[in-house]
Amino acid sequence: MFIEVDELTKNYYVGNVKITALKEVSFTLEKGGFYVILGPSGSGKTTLMNMLGGIDTPDSGKVIVDGEDITLLDAKSLTNYRRKKLGFVFQFYNLVHSLTVYENVLSTKYLSENGLDPREVLETVGMWEHRDKFPFELSGGEQQRVAIARAVIKNPSLILCDEPTGALDFENAKKVLELLEYINKKYKATIIVATHNNAIARMSTKIMRLRSGELLEFMDNPLPIQAKEVSW
Ligand SMILES: Nc1ncnc2c1ncn2[C@@H]1O[C@H](COP(=O)(O)OP(=O)(O)OP(=O)(O)O)[C@@H](O)[C@H]1O
Ligand SMILES: [Mg+2]
Repeated sequence: MFIEVDELTKNYYVGNVKITALKEVSFTLEKGGFYVILGPSGSGKTTLMNMLGGIDTPDSGKVIVDGEDITLLDAKSLTNYRRKKLGFVFQFYNLVHSLTVYENVLSTKYLSENGLDPREVLETVGMWEHRDKFPFELSGGEQQRVAIARAVIKNPSLILCDEPTGALDFENAKKVLELLEYINKKYKATIIVATHNNAIARMSTKIMRLRSGELLEFMDNPLPIQAKEVSW
């Protein structure tokens, strides 16, 4: 099993008020799959992604990735995990505005020892022709494709995408989904997408449905649809 989440619980405290962002969430995922975490706003998707990415620590429970419980890692090992094994794609792209497309992608290549060729990756995401542009010269969809390239160039075994299409119109969202699907096949990276969009969840072989921090359902979807068939 590539990912094993066991009884994961996270509470936040705002003053005296306790907010349960995740409550005893457990599931397992196999290597190389394309998975969706589905839930409405506030259901705990980002909290769960941050736990999987070692960005935040849980109150209790385990997050085992590739045989290693990342909740037990010290700061240095955790940084290593994030640098080498993980690609993170955010809703609002998070590109460096003073760097060109090419430089944005190149800047993360050397975080990993087995980084890919920037030209190949930029061609894969359809942004090679735009390599000398700055982020402000790109559409939202194009920026997201660069952000995906930046995650992919490290050749990570796990790519976490938190609402990667949340800021995009339908056409661009679909292009991003097609790209993630292609990258999942081409580079064999395990991809987890967090979304509130039911239509996107149909692409996943396993759907993790969150509601108020609880895993309502861990559903098998034996006939996942392709990105090009997604509509809303
Ligand atoms: N740093 C924090 N401090 C306090 N409460 C927080 C914090 N981060 C998240 N929460 C709360 O935890 C719950 C889960 O939040 P989370 O961001 O994981 O939801 P989400 O499913 O990603 O929502 P969205 O779709 O709006 O991004 C919410 O009730 C939120 O208000
Ligand atoms: Mg969120």
